[in-house]
Amino acid sequence: MATIPQHIAIVMDGNGRWATRRYLPRVAGHKRGVDALRNCVRHCGDIGVKVLTVFAFSSENWNRPPEEVSGLMELFALALGREVPQLQAEGVRIHFVGDRSTLSEKMRAGLEQAEKATAGNTRLVFNICFNYGGRWDIAQAAAKLAQAGAPITEMNLDRAMALAHVPDPDLLIRTGGEQRISNFLLWQSAYTELYFTDKLWPEFDAAAIDEAIADYALRERRFGRTSEQIAPEAPVKKAA
Ligand code: IPE
Ligand code: IPE
Ligand code: MG
Repeated sequence: MATIPQHIAIVMDGNGRWATRRYLPRVAGHKRGVDALRNCVRHCGDIGVKVLTVFAFSSENWNRPPEEVSGLMELFALALGREVPQLQAEGVRIHFVGDRSTLSEKMRAGLEQAEKATAGNTRLVFNICFNYGGRWDIAQAAAKLAQAGAPITEMNLDRAMALAHVPDPDLLIRTGGEQRISNFLLWQSAYTELYFTDKLWPEFDAAAIDEAIADYALRERRFGRTSEQIAPEAPVKKAA
């Protein structure tokens, strides 16, 4: 298998369209999205990915019709209760990333419980971005530094970010055909390889993950350097 990225981030988009194409309510697409996510977590663990970060609900998704928002919240609570024991058995450590201050007491307790239950696991770190926005993260990190009277440096900001416990993502996948970031990991994706696919999230299976990784393996990550600096062993053509 090709080079495996240490950290994969995913914008799981296209659930609504998947459902609408089948004349189903949008929430049915979200349900299938949970199935796709379960398989994705398992596959990532199996192939040796160390960190998986997914966008489950954005700060802006509150603006959706109330019945979709409540359907998503119910599904989230349901999945949380149902999936944690299996994730636990698979050695997955769960982190919730996002603004918890506006969530209900019950929801907050559920998140904390899931994190606590899986805190000793080391096979795969699974970050679930929920009520998350990249701008929120940068602002909350800056506020933390200001409150502590710490200088606003890149390093300090980095350490105050909600994803400070993991390295930056190597590969960011967005399903559903849109080619935008939608306020996902704005700070952390500075040098992340981007991969966009038309596949809708409920159809994104293990083979699709492998395809994304194969594409990633062909990239040359230069981090501002030149190609020659990255691959000095590459044969240099001598002038005749
Ligand atoms: C992504 O699927 C899931 C969430 C945003 C919660 P969408 O619901 O955005 O699906 P489309 O983009 O409408 O198809
Ligand atoms: C991004 O998808 C958020 C999640 C996948 C949770 P959206 O469907 O909300 O993004 P936009 O609105 O098309 O940019
Ligand atoms: Mg969408």
